[in-house]
Amino acid sequence: MSDLTTNKILGAGLATALVLAGLWIVVPMFFQKTPPAKPGYLIAVAPDLAGGAAAAPDVPPDWGTVLPAADVAAGEAKTAVCKSCHSFDPSGPNNIGPGLYGVVGRKPGSHPGFAYSAAMIALGAKQPIWDYEHLYELMKGPQIFLPGTKMTFIGLKSPQDRINVIAYLHSLGSSLPIPAPNPKATAPAATATAASAAGASAPKGATPTPAPVANKPGAPA
Ligand code: HEC
Repeated sequence: MSDLTTNKILGAGLATALVLAGLWIVVPMFFQKTPPAKPGYLIAVAPDLAGGAAAAPDVPPDWGTVLPAADVAAGEAKTAVCKSCHSFDPSGPNNIGPGLYGVVGRKPGSHPGFAYSAAMIALGAKQPIWDYEHLYELMKGPQIFLPGTKMTFIGLKSPQDRINVIAYLHSLGSSLPIPAPNPKATAPAATATAASAAGASAPKGATPTPAPVANKPGAPA
């Protein structure tokens, strides 16, 4: 091997080493090394299931007030989402979920021929009937209301939707009476914020003011 050949080989080796060293320094410059502030896999769990709209507390409404005023047709339309699992037919067939005709006032977990979860059976043991309140809570978030339920449905976020659906369910062969209006017991969900805002500064029970006063622009602050 001549000296010239040796030099060529050494030169080529040196050049390759230089290029590699250069890449080793330059390439990482193009990649971000600091970790992102938020890990990409963090999944935000639907926050509104727990608290509803930011300020308005999702208090159960006064059934005697909201049910007679509810939009039954709108409630029926909302049950389109339920129909993938439930039938509302008077013959009461079971599907993925139990038949719901006449469910208002029925004992939870008692529809013949349906294989309920242990959680639903347990609810029926301590809660004698599906009243408005419990249906409202179930529909809000079945898995939150009744952990372990087979009802894998996210829930109806809007309180008014739930009220309308309950009014529709009530129209399906239910004999559970609608209570007399008692606006003092609980404020209707829709006006809860207005009522509590107006009531916050006034001494409790000072004057029996009718509800519309809360909407007067010049109400005492
Ligand atoms: C993905 C299927 C599914 C959807 C959608 C669904 N449900 Fe259910 N539902 C079920 C199942 C399953 C059960 C039985 C739960 C158990 O045994 O824990 C159930 C139980 C119920 C019960 C209790 C019945 C009883 O006999 O005690 C009511 C009331 C109810 N659902 C109402 C509704 C309404 C109203 C909607 C629509 C707003 C709805 N469900 C949407 C699957 C569903």
